[in-house]
Amino acid sequence: MTQTLAPIPPADNRQDLALAERLFDALRDRTGDGTGIWRPSYGPGESLALDIVEAKARDLGLATERDAGANLVVTLDGREPDLPFLACGSHLDSVPQGGNFDGAAGVVAGLAILAGFKRDGIVPRRTMKLYALRGEESARFGTAYMGSYALLGLLKPADLAAREARGGRTMADCMREVGVDVDRVARGEPLLDPARMAAWIELHIEQGPVLVARDLPVSIVTGIRGNLRHRVVECVGEAGHSGAVPRWLRRDAVFATAELITHLDRHWRTLLERGRDVVVTSGILSTNPDEHAIARIPGSVRFSFEVRSQSRETLEAFYDLFLSECTLIGEERGVEFKLDRRIDSAPATMDAGWVRRLKDAARRLGLPDEEMPSGAGHDAAVFANAGIPSAMIFVRNDHGSHNPGEQMAMGDFLAGVAVMRAALEEAKDE
Ligand code: GLV
Ligand code: MN
Ligand code: MN
Repeated sequence: MTQTLAPIPPADNRQDLALAERLFDALRDRTGDGTGIWRPSYGPGESLALDIVEAKARDLGLATERDAGANLVVTLDGREPDLPFLACGSHLDSVPQGGNFDGAAGVVAGLAILAGFKRDGIVPRRTMKLYALRGEESARFGTAYMGSYALLGLLKPADLAAREARGGRTMADCMREVGVDVDRVARGEPLLDPARMAAWIELHIEQGPVLVARDLPVSIVTGIRGNLRHRVVECVGEAGHSGAVPRWLRRDAVFATAELITHLDRHWRTLLERGRDVVVTSGILSTNPDEHAIARIPGSVRFSFEVRSQSRETLEAFYDLFLSECTLIGEERGVEFKLDRRIDSAPATMDAGWVRRLKDAARRLGLPDEEMPSGAGHDAAVFANAGIPSAMIFVRNDHGSHNPGEQMAMGDFLAGVAVMRAALEEAKDE
């Protein structure tokens, strides 16, 4: 017999709405770049976003601090503070010309929930902590999840030495400047004992078109795609006069790269036909503007490579195909594909118990409880892979993400907050 769960009556969420509108407006107004949002990882826009959220948390009477990773941590004390705590949150950095809700939605949701518990006099058994993490986006330094990696002692020396995409400063220097204890991070010392975190719950916008297409305000995430990346692949051929060199003597880097990408697209289609989960992107691709010309055979092209999948096996299989295509096309066309350091982010599975709890909460609230995997990456993957039970709620959003047009309806956000709050409230005496 299936158990019928008692419905949760609609709550008065006017205070959550006011808090969310005020915070999202402040974030947009103060961290805009003229076109979209620009809160660079370990940079000024990100720090400003942390300051804005911290000031609001203090106004609400919540305790705040910066941890050794320079993340903002907001705490609601529990009855038994020695027990491992329940954590929630997301990131506050953004891609250049990004949207206002990617990451920030999860931080604002966590603050609304902690503030609501405080207001309603709910004192959970375990302490609850909201993390406004830094450094989730790979746009600045090539590595994603820097904030959560640093907390768990997982950043590598090569990550710390990576230079920013615009400008030449290292990740380590930028981290130090905002207050990260870089010496500990460089030693691989965890800044947080994962055994202290009883769970990680993250609300996030979907960033894709599925919830809009299926007319669902929220969904529950089952797993997160991992990825393999190269920030820079350089195809090196030979420059020459576009009229004077016949086809058989050319070593054209653009034609070779185009062939490589066409072959990757074919492999991608084949894997999809075999039922594999995979997406492939080359988000940066250019000849050198200092030397390129209509009448010059391009001697060099630089591009980025990224493959994502929920399966490690599929990631590695696609990567092998990529390498063999680089070799074959290189031999046939007389070019060489030079790869920089490979950057890996592992796929992750969400915790079955928390997925069930979130689904139950959604049903009790009269909301859909559909499951879906996450195509985009999230810090929840890092916490899950460290053995911390982790779960995510997706909120519908329009116009995709990583672009200034990203939209989220407040009604959908409040639905996601209600699901998260109900699940955390159910755990309050455990
Ligand atoms: C995170 O934003 C990602 O690139 O998946
Ligand atoms: Mn993002
Ligand atoms: Mn994000």
